[in-house]
Amino acid sequence: MQDMPEIRPGQSIELLKELHILTRDGKMNQDSRRKLKQVYHLYQFIEPLLRELDQDGQTLRLVDHGAGKSYLGFILYDLFFKNRSRDGHIFGIETRDELVERSRALAERLGFPGMSFLNLSVADSIVSDQLPARIDVVTALHACDTATDDAIRFALQKDARFIVLVPCCQAEVAAVLRKNKSKILAKNVLTELWRHPMHTREFGSQLTNVLRCLQLEAHGYQVSVTELVGWEHSMKNELIIATRKGQARRQPTQRLQELLSELGLEEMGERFFAPQAGS
Ligand SMILES: C[S@@+](CC[C@H](N)C(=O)[O-])C[C@H]1O[C@@H](n2cnc3c(N)ncnc32)[C@H](O)[C@@H]1O
Repeated sequence: MQDMPEIRPGQSIELLKELHILTRDGKMNQDSRRKLKQVYHLYQFIEPLLRELDQDGQTLRLVDHGAGKSYLGFILYDLFFKNRSRDGHIFGIETRDELVERSRALAERLGFPGMSFLNLSVADSIVSDQLPARIDVVTALHACDTATDDAIRFALQKDARFIVLVPCCQAEVAAVLRKNKSKILAKNVLTELWRHPMHTREFGSQLTNVLRCLQLEAHGYQVSVTELVGWEHSMKNELIIATRKGQARRQPTQRLQELLSELGLEEMGERFFAPQAGS
């Protein structure tokens, strides 16, 4: 095999082949190098969170929503979970049965016993008894449309310590902005921000992430928003990391409600549900 400094000691070569980072004969090209760099870039944000949790000495449980081929889950397991002395488990949630089956088979082949894949929607996973009551980390990488919002709801329900999101497009907020546009056009100069159809889509998408951040802050999370540099799969590369800090907070709750009301989005209150403003 070529000399490949990018490959870390103990990393599964079989997994890298399955992810098409290495060719079947173990070679790596420039594209693969870039892909691996991107994976490490995301890993570099998540690893410190896992290390922090590791110090608690409990079983470490991570749920990856909209797992797809479980790219992220497998990399996390291979680089971190596999080498821990304590128990840890990664659950992949995915609605496409063939992907669930494929991931189960791959985990079996690689000998990764701490991985499970459940054929569930994110919304259904909130109430599923196939998942434990306590979950430490919730990830959702390009989970389609409102699946990211369901993942947030899941994380809040499970009181997760960390939530890592790279949202996909979300069409729901833009649709409501569009529907209510004519009603508030004359009343509010801010409607200029989304008067043109293309702006409605773009503004809706950005606003969705702003509302998600406020929702998380309202529930007592500290939120950071950065860019997932060079993530080739999508133009959507906003990385939101939320860390549970304490109790529900009044100020972001009020801000969330004011923003929804100012933009004519009161009906979205259920989607971005917040604790009571007085709490
Ligand atoms: C764009 S792919 C991303 C896959 C993976 N997270 C990644 O980044 O490589 C989104 C995946 O989410 C799944 N998905 C979409 N909506 C879902 C939902 N409500 N519940 C569970 N899975 C969902 C799709 O089937 C698809 O596999």
